[in-house]
Amino acid sequence: MTGKAVLAFSGGLDTSVVVKYLQEEHDMDVVTVTVDVGQGEDSRAVHSKAKKLGVKKHHTIDARKEFVAKYVIPSIKANALYQKKYCLATALARPLIAQKMLEVAKKEGATALAHGCSGKGNDQVRFDITLRSGSALPIIAPIRDKNLDRTTELAFAKRHGINIESVAKKYSIDQNLWGRAIEGGVIEDAYKEPPSEAFIWVKTKNLPDRPAYVEIEFAGGVPVRADKIRGAQEIIQYLNKKAGGAGVGIIDHIEDRVVGIKSREVYETPAALCLIEAHSDLEKMVHTSHQNRFKGMVDEQWAHLAYSGLWQDPLRADLDGFINESQKSVSGTVRLKLYKGSMRVVGRKSSKSLYIRDTATYGAESTFDQRLAVGFVELWGMQSTEANKLQKKRSKKI
Ligand code: ARG
Repeated sequence: MTGKAVLAFSGGLDTSVVVKYLQEEHDMDVVTVTVDVGQGEDSRAVHSKAKKLGVKKHHTIDARKEFVAKYVIPSIKANALYQKKYCLATALARPLIAQKMLEVAKKEGATALAHGCSGKGNDQVRFDITLRSGSALPIIAPIRDKNLDRTTELAFAKRHGINIESVAKKYSIDQNLWGRAIEGGVIEDAYKEPPSEAFIWVKTKNLPDRPAYVEIEFAGGVPVRADKIRGAQEIIQYLNKKAGGAGVGIIDHIEDRVVGIKSREVYETPAALCLIEAHSDLEKMVHTSHQNRFKGMVDEQWAHLAYSGLWQDPLRADLDGFINESQKSVSGTVRLKLYKGSMRVVGRKSSKSLYIRDTATYGAESTFDQRLAVGFVELWGMQSTEANKLQKKRSKKI
């Protein structure tokens, strides 16, 4: 297949191998796209890596603002933690990167789209479905198509004089401003503690002896201030540093991938964990018990769609409609305590609060007449107590 391929390029092992593969096996011109979603990589360095590999053209697109506004903030509103743990950093960035690829492909008159995903992970699902939703061009995924493994890729890279950083030789890493995923190598032993060298954002040694506090303010479900810092992107960067410095933000769990494989996943996500913990705590204060229970189900479904590559499914927009409506009352301030790797909410306040101290108090000033509870409890438990009584009666008869 000759022609022009647009490739999502990170400068890492997989995508570098793909450039050479497209050029040599397919005799294609390669146009690379690097989308900046806050991975903190020097864009000039990635550009020169691409040029060294002989690409025809390289595009750098700064999509950090869009990533935060259209992907990260909706995920905070949805308290999105896949399997109660993973903040979806990679999962949220993929549809955006694929969207940018489509824009470049149109501009460049590309004849194919390419990515460096393997056939074992979730990223192929996310890329393919977004690309398919916007284009009929063929998708080339050489790592998947050729069933390549990392050892073979490293040997291929060496043969082609592709320079791979030493950390990439040990782990497969994907990062953006919402989180850092570390996979592969020694981490694949599910019982073994990840070595501290795997962590960059979260301090694991010599942690401060004094707790740190952070005050996070939300308006309509959106974080608008953390201590003195304003603006969602700045807040995320600030919390990654502050909570990471207190040892907060490591996740280690067994994850169910879309393709059926279970994997041991390790993440560094200090800001995401703080913001979601604070946001969901505030929701509990301002929402009724019925809203809380129902939203929990919606949140879980939202995280599942985002994780499993179904960002484009109309159901996500439907859920966003509900979630956005529910956020109107989610304004207030939450205080978190960060200490030697632990994080917990130690206070919250809101002008929309449904917490009424006068009714909740055990003190003499209570305005709640306890005598009302007797009838309520009787009716509340009526079916359950009757069912038990009947069961006992019937079992006696047998
Ligand atoms: N398991 C996570 C996900 O599916 C992280 C994937 C990270 N990718 C990587 N190449 N390390 O979203």
